[in-house]
Amino acid sequence: MVLLSPRTVFVGCSNLRPSYISRALSSPLTQLGRPSRTHSIISPLQPYIIEGKTYPLDSFSNIPPSILSKLPRSLHTQPNHPISILRQIIESHFSTFNSIIPSSPVVTVHENFDELGFPPDHPGRALTDSYYLNKEHMLRTHTSAHEVGTYRKDLNSWLLTADVYRRDEIDSSHYPVFHQMEGTHIWSKDQLNVLPELNRKLSMELKKCPLIIEDPTKVGPNNPYQIEHDPVHAAEITQHLKHSLNSLIFRLFGQSATHEGEPLRVRWIEAFFPFTTPSYEVEVWWNGEWLELLGCGVVMQRTLDQAGVGHKAGWAFGLGLERIAMVLFDIPDIRLFWSTDPRFISQFSPGQITQFKPYSKYPPCYKDMSFWLPISSVFHENDFCEIVRDVAGDLVETVELIDDFTHPKTGRQSKCYRLNYRSMDRSLSNEEVNVLQDQVQRRVVQEMGIEMR
Ligand code: PHE
Repeated sequence: MVLLSPRTVFVGCSNLRPSYISRALSSPLTQLGRPSRTHSIISPLQPYIIEGKTYPLDSFSNIPPSILSKLPRSLHTQPNHPISILRQIIESHFSTFNSIIPSSPVVTVHENFDELGFPPDHPGRALTDSYYLNKEHMLRTHTSAHEVGTYRKDLNSWLLTADVYRRDEIDSSHYPVFHQMEGTHIWSKDQLNVLPELNRKLSMELKKCPLIIEDPTKVGPNNPYQIEHDPVHAAEITQHLKHSLNSLIFRLFGQSATHEGEPLRVRWIEAFFPFTTPSYEVEVWWNGEWLELLGCGVVMQRTLDQAGVGHKAGWAFGLGLERIAMVLFDIPDIRLFWSTDPRFISQFSPGQITQFKPYSKYPPCYKDMSFWLPISSVFHENDFCEIVRDVAGDLVETVELIDDFTHPKTGRQSKCYRLNYRSMDRSLSNEEVNVLQDQVQRRVVQEMGIEMR
């Protein structure tokens, strides 16, 4: 069964949405680091209080109650939850690594972007893409936000799992909250001579696995070693990264793939991240498609310097747990992870990957909404989706753009969106969907300055 649409397979990174690579190409550059609109989409009235700390509001504050309500859920620590089961399987694979679970999702903008080398105009910083408490604090958009802080604790190999937050579109594989795991191994530079032997052993173990590794990547001007590194050392670190991740991927996907009588296929692709070089993305051949799993690379020396451990060097990866859990547990819709229905959660047990059995598929109900875009402010689809989510929560399955029209005479632009409503747990009545649709309509007119057609 194909679980992810071809579109999601090609746009995703380690987290079911464009990574910071493709994001840089796909997001408009017009809305960076400043409020992108005159109308406030979700204007909170009270300062945010998270884990007992108060965050005063300012023009950046853009977190709606629907997102705040997700903070205490902590899916990655619920023992029977697929996200937590997957975390534990990966932790047992890297059994000597320290496991870390940060308690608060709040990080500084400095930690999330600046200290990792994201340029000031990076699209990921836009208010349309990220959730800000205020100018200084935000909900982390990736677990890499904890790199410097964790290296500062002098840990050499660790796995850090956390909920991460990004504003996004609405469909079966995108959700504004998802989970990532950051994994890293660093060594004192004077101990890097252990690597050739470690690599030899890992390579011998991998040779025994029915695994085809396609790796046409090259180190060169587009994906260089760092000038601070002896190229021989950098090559050993890169090799150790590749062996370690190939072996993890075989642990996760190998059994089912070999079931079909075929060896597992893994593909390495050159990539770019501001905080690693050389950098890579890794994909696995799954149900007839390449599925993007993770981003990784050799840790930028700048990151280690900032943590006060400039005498060390090593690698890091970041992977999205939902994407992997969806294929391994056969979970067809990302909203299911948030279901509190006992028919969902009772199906899973710690340590085991079992196939989800759908308990029912309730009928969908769709409603279209056509409107003229505002003249005086920029329309951004993520803002529209935020209002839809705030009103309808998990009752909305997808929001699709079905028509985009520019009036030939006036030049005014209009869009028509189809909102597909469907509950995971029950049948929805047409009346209740009409109420939701009316509320969405009222709010988008009020808060986005659009005009219904
Ligand atoms: N943080 C990156 C992302 O979310 C993934 C990554 C982690 C890449 C660690 C390299 C090293 O897209």
